[in-house]
Amino acid sequence: MCYAIPGKLVEINEKIGIVDYFGEKKKVLIDFTDVSVGDYVYAQGGVLLNKISPKEAEEILTTWQDLFFELKSIDEKLSHVKKARQSKSLLALLQKVNLDKALTRKELLSLLKVNDHNGLKLLFEMANNIRQKEHGNACCVHGIIEFSNVCENQCFYCGIRKGRRMPRYRMDLDEISKVAGDAVNRLGFKALVLQSGEDPWYDQKKLVTIVREIRKLGVLVFLSIGERSKDTYRRLFEEGARAVLLRFETSNEGIFNRLRPQRSLAKRVELIRYIRELGYVLATGFLLGLPEETEQDIINNILLTKELKPHMYSLGPLIPSRQTPLENHTFINKDILLKVIALSRFIDKDSNILVTTALETLDKGTKRQALLSGANSLMINVTPSQYRNLYHIYDNRAGVREPIQETIAATIELLYSLGRAPTDLGIKTVQ
Ligand code: 5AD
Repeated sequence: MCYAIPGKLVEINEKIGIVDYFGEKKKVLIDFTDVSVGDYVYAQGGVLLNKISPKEAEEILTTWQDLFFELKSIDEKLSHVKKARQSKSLLALLQKVNLDKALTRKELLSLLKVNDHNGLKLLFEMANNIRQKEHGNACCVHGIIEFSNVCENQCFYCGIRKGRRMPRYRMDLDEISKVAGDAVNRLGFKALVLQSGEDPWYDQKKLVTIVREIRKLGVLVFLSIGERSKDTYRRLFEEGARAVLLRFETSNEGIFNRLRPQRSLAKRVELIRYIRELGYVLATGFLLGLPEETEQDIINNILLTKELKPHMYSLGPLIPSRQTPLENHTFINKDILLKVIALSRFIDKDSNILVTTALETLDKGTKRQALLSGANSLMINVTPSQYRNLYHIYDNRAGVREPIQETIAATIELLYSLGRAPTDLGIKTVQ
């Protein structure tokens, strides 16, 4: 099984290439490989990773061809907006979305307040319809390796916060390489997210070695290692890391300061902007359902995400975690989460929106619903089983107990049932 279909490079304009997948064109960034028009290539997250021989590509494409068009037609069928009785004001707002007119804060807020069955259904269907029109049935499936659960921070919401008594682990460099090699060579992943707590044991030198080793596997190296120095992010870019996941967590400074002692929202946002400027593919976003969060905060979170011009939105619900200050906090209502995904899709049509693990943890059906409400990207946890339940950022995480192969099979089944294919998503703008 592979999580990426190869495509044919049909155009090169300096660093931007156009890759054709069965007639569908995606924009990619070219900066590693010496390629020419006509080459068959693999891309992930909008980054061209490597070229493959025409023979190998044609074999893979032949096995995909029929399935690809079958999936596309399933996706098209599922993306229709069905007519039902609606309020005039809701229809007027959605008409604005259709016409690509910017929604005001007040209008976004009124969409967030939609609560009746028909209204919600229409919001989700519209978001799914836009996703389909803008992105086709492409869905990126990235592997994630959680390589250390040691963290210097004491975030009130997080189950691996410093001081919480629990077994801690660190994978050494050899082990990380081995796990990554297995994810690529045996399981077929083309993009790997390397995630950890903010663990100073992995200094710049160690991180450089890790990135260098994993880059050699010919995959997209996607970092999720928290706040590191600007210099470290710059060095890791030089070594070939090309994507970073760093959420700002909340745009409300008061909430941020209460829940993240000794940390600064302004500094975190500045770092996120810097990472984007370096040329990384950026995934950012926020937690939903933090204590004292208002609907206005949620709108501000969506708008701040958009302002940061990410290639990918990453947002998820707070899942209260045992033995943390927020252990008794209430869970967010699932409809709010799906509405936030839909609104993100409305205001940033060409962005990619990730279905995060926390979202799956909320309940089994959420992943499917999120993919039908505007989301178009997934991650599968490939951390070795002896560590997976120790990366305990919150309780009852989805996909912790099941063998990786089972999770992969279930994910593929879900994607096929929705008509989604693992082609690259492409990129929007590159500065
Ligand atoms: N519930 C949901 N998400 C959490 N994170 C941390 N703790 C929790 C929790 N209890 C998220 C943060 C962080 C990401 C890696 O995990 O948003 O950025």
